[in-house]
Amino acid sequence: MSTTFKASPGGALSGKIRVPGDKSISHRSIMLGSLAEGVTEVKGFLQGEDSLATLEAFRSLGVNIEGPDNGHVRIHGVGMHGLREADKPLDLGNSGTSMRLLAGLLAGQSFTSELLGDASLTKRPMRRVTEPLAKMGAVINTTEAGTAPLIVEGGHKLNGIHYTMPVASAQVKSCILLAGLYANSETCVTEPAPTRDHTERMLQGFGYSVERNGATVCLRGGGKLSATTLDVPADISSAAFFMVGASIANGSDLLLQHVGINPTRIGVINILRQMGADIDVINETTVSGEPVADIRIKSAPLRGIHIPEAQVPLAIDEFPVLFVAAACAQGQTVLTGARELRVKESDRIQVMADGLTTLGVDAQPTEDGMVIQGGAINGGRVNSHGDHRIAMAFAIASLRAGGVIHIDDCANVNTSFPGFVGLARSCGLNLSEQ
Ligand code: S3P
Repeated sequence: MSTTFKASPGGALSGKIRVPGDKSISHRSIMLGSLAEGVTEVKGFLQGEDSLATLEAFRSLGVNIEGPDNGHVRIHGVGMHGLREADKPLDLGNSGTSMRLLAGLLAGQSFTSELLGDASLTKRPMRRVTEPLAKMGAVINTTEAGTAPLIVEGGHKLNGIHYTMPVASAQVKSCILLAGLYANSETCVTEPAPTRDHTERMLQGFGYSVERNGATVCLRGGGKLSATTLDVPADISSAAFFMVGASIANGSDLLLQHVGINPTRIGVINILRQMGADIDVINETTVSGEPVADIRIKSAPLRGIHIPEAQVPLAIDEFPVLFVAAACAQGQTVLTGARELRVKESDRIQVMADGLTTLGVDAQPTEDGMVIQGGAINGGRVNSHGDHRIAMAFAIASLRAGGVIHIDDCANVNTSFPGFVGLARSCGLNLSEQ
């Protein structure tokens, strides 16, 4: 099924909107709720294809899950040892988070599981999880290239490890911690730079003890999780499109409600502010162990910057739209230290550079980033390569474009942001689906 977006030029963003629930937290709510004892109630769950793939996987593993109904999900937890063998491979679609976290969680079970994905997920590197899991005693078969399908063998005893991650990846960290729940001793993961800590926070919310010491997080296997209630905040990675849109479109004044502002996720706010954006974070509170706030953005002239490398893991999903901000800024923006972007749902460095170049922007890809000169954005036809965030980033670019932007291969926007077109139109984007 092919979907093309037609984004007509101009417009401004205004009003109040709430973007859908956080994808990372939604995945984890299903995983931990399923392993807990008792019934976990979730509200604000993201009904996007990625988190629904996780939900369906746990149904296949024998968990009774009611919903989702308007963001409400009720998970009848089966306890740490209550999952049962699925009668078919678990199809995780486009979702790297589902596959990598499940690899760890399933390595500790008594039964074997097979994990599949779509064409994009099947190309993504899985050795970053299978290698440390093998050190724990797990047995996982991959293709020769270290990619999916994964066969995660059951019945192998897991030992705790102390693992220092070569890449700053919350998926790898979470995978190892989830395997660590089943290990016979302590498991510790050290990260080279801070990455999103939703797994650690949520484990604690389910009553599981997790210790952090500087860059190292540790837990001991053999404990149990107790059901809880969870309120999933709006996803800052989805809000980011509108933060950039309101910043670059003259006359914008937009309020984004109930957005998760976990310090490991706010790179987009830090980077945009450094570029000169007018962003107010108001009504801060804590919900289900996660900081949440409303975010008000007014248009402001942006300037090019050298993006601090320390911000990269804190904004890792936001670079497609941050490149659009850079294209609208005065002067040059330089990104370095972001090689990880090449192994996301698409090669986000190459695909964004290609699309921006098509639109007349001077965007030079580098091995680990990009150099962008701010200037005019023309209309034209670009391809998202099935990457949700690329599709939405180019839709936002239309706010400052000189002509219509057609964006091909946009169906995967539904993986993270169902209803994007309607919500974007409601606050001022001239966007339609063809
Ligand atoms: C995620 C972690 C990030 C991010 C992904 C979701 C998570 O991946 O890109 O969209 O939920 O843990 P890495 O940790 O591999 O960078």
